[in-house]
Amino acid sequence: MSIINLHLKIWRQENSKAQGRFVSYESGPVSTDMSFLEMIDVLNERLTLDGQEPVAFDHDCREGICGMCGAVVNGHAHGHKNATTLCQLHMRHFSDGDTIVIEPFRARAFKVVKDLVVDRSAFDTLIASGGYVSVNTGGAQDGNAIPISQKIADQALDASACIGCGACVASCPNASAMLFVGAKISQLALLPQGQPERAKRALDMLNTMDLLGFGNCSNERECEAACPKNISIRHIARLNREYIKAAFLSD
Ligand code: SF4
Ligand code: FES
Repeated sequence: MSIINLHLKIWRQENSKAQGRFVSYESGPVSTDMSFLEMIDVLNERLTLDGQEPVAFDHDCREGICGMCGAVVNGHAHGHKNATTLCQLHMRHFSDGDTIVIEPFRARAFKVVKDLVVDRSAFDTLIASGGYVSVNTGGAQDGNAIPISQKIADQALDASACIGCGACVASCPNASAMLFVGAKISQLALLPQGQPERAKRALDMLNTMDLLGFGNCSNERECEAACPKNISIRHIARLNREYIKAAFLSD
């Protein structure tokens, strides 16, 4: 373990209506064993003791599984480490004397609530618009009663790894949610349980995405590069196929 000192430039914004600005802070001594969020915890302790407002940021599991954390660090959603959420980014990936610029995810559909906290409830609206399956009443079916090939099961499992963090939206120049929606559509389109609403789901989710102000995909692939769960843009290709098929078959 070693100790580093950092110059921090952090976006401070009182609420969604207020004008935001970058404020500079010195981190003080930071252990390289700390996570990025622990580094902000230490800063916040000091700010609180000094009678200042701590930096607001979202987090929950701190294990890379809940999707709550997220900020843009030196221009990268979740920081520069591949396939890593902000809570799993460790300070050993920074050097003594570095300047770190920390700002919220920026997208029309994600309003800044305070400092680094953005409102990602648009994702909940997207999920509600199509992310369901019909379940007949009765006892739960034995998993093995529905044969699924290993390849399809693996593809569905890969899609289900999406934690809904929103980094794909924040890193896309069009603030598109296609990777997120593609993962959710794929997960259900690949499995037998997702078949009854398959076409309706594709139409509803894409139409809702447009209504919520997310942009479209122009094949920049920034979403794939920023995704902490390695969600592939193949899922966007499947989403496009699902949508075209559903639109063709609809009235
Ligand atoms: S696709 Fe990746 S970046 Fe987008 S919400 Fe899911 S986990 Fe986050
Ligand atoms: S806090 Fe849960 S993924 Fe980062």
